[in-house]
Amino acid sequence: MYARIAGTGRYLPPKVLTNADLEKMVDTTDEWIRTRTGIQRRHIAGPDETTSSMATEAARNAMEMAGVGPRDIDLVVVGTTTPDVVFPNVATLVQANLGIRDTPAFSLETACSGFVYALGIADKFIRLGDSKCALVIGAECITRLVDWTDRGTCVLFGDGAGAVILKPSEEPGILTTILSADGAYGDLLSYPYGVSKGFDQLRAGAPAAIQMKGNEVFKVAVNTLSRLVDQTLAKAGIDREAIDWLVPHQANLRIIQAAAKKLELPMKQVVVTVTDHGNTSAASIPLALDTAVRDGRIKRGQTLLLETFGGGFTWGSALVRY
Ligand code: COA
Repeated sequence: MYARIAGTGRYLPPKVLTNADLEKMVDTTDEWIRTRTGIQRRHIAGPDETTSSMATEAARNAMEMAGVGPRDIDLVVVGTTTPDVVFPNVATLVQANLGIRDTPAFSLETACSGFVYALGIADKFIRLGDSKCALVIGAECITRLVDWTDRGTCVLFGDGAGAVILKPSEEPGILTTILSADGAYGDLLSYPYGVSKGFDQLRAGAPAAIQMKGNEVFKVAVNTLSRLVDQTLAKAGIDREAIDWLVPHQANLRIIQAAAKKLELPMKQVVVTVTDHGNTSAASIPLALDTAVRDGRIKRGQTLLLETFGGGFTWGSALVRY
């Protein structure tokens, strides 16, 4: 038994922030941002938008494509690092918005790897026969954590949500997943304020923002993803020539290019959306996937490699027969 993707969906907030807008906010240039990251614009959640509201819209899209209703869904998993509130968790908020009842519903926080982790876990529910229709979401309101005076980080991030519906199938679907992490790298990329740590500083109004040693993150990301590609192909027992599409985490075009080079895959077989929405953390892979499914690039029967890397560090991959 396999878990097969029956539908995909996405949501991006209407407000767009271009590189030209950022030039007016910090000491940066469109040229610097494009050449170092590939990013041209990003979407910013409005004051009334939340991670769960964006997740709900993406879920509606995916449910429509899959032709399923709230009563069909028996599992909701959301990867997010920016929940609306501490609790109820985002998956239960989505449940309530969509009228899904009496199912497991939980969120997991593995930063940019949130969607791949959520997919890996839902895949296991389906393979074990514990789910017949899973809603898997990556959603993020990460710009709320950004310091808009820090040019080193504020140019990188954007908000959004993406979703898939998984159903059991005897035809191949998700072929294999790898989920991994190494907490020794935690300090290189973090938002070190929360509930049991840094709460008093936050309440006192201390400046809090994403902290990142960009250069070092870059190097570990490229090396780890290179290893991950080999591990994934070996675990699935397939050659790299079998990959039709690389659907990578959209953090930085140069990191994506390095992964494509490792696979000896021309860039025309790589789904690149970082240009249009920046790094949306856990939302980025399902956003890219839905974009390429709906514009007809990704077709049924093709083999996709999803790979991700994020704060923690966490990383993971999924090899998928679409
Ligand atoms: N505009 C103009 N100059 C900028 C800038 C900006 N937005 N941000 C940084 N700079 C400057 C730096 O201050 C530095 O100046 P200096 O040489 O005078 O000190 C110079 O550009 C080079 O900075 P550096 O950080 O070495 O640049 P880089 O080539 O490593 O690119 C990143 C920076 C952030 C784009 C890159 O490191 C990166 O993408 N890292 C990975 C980040 C990531 O993907 N994180 C999420 C993982 S999920």
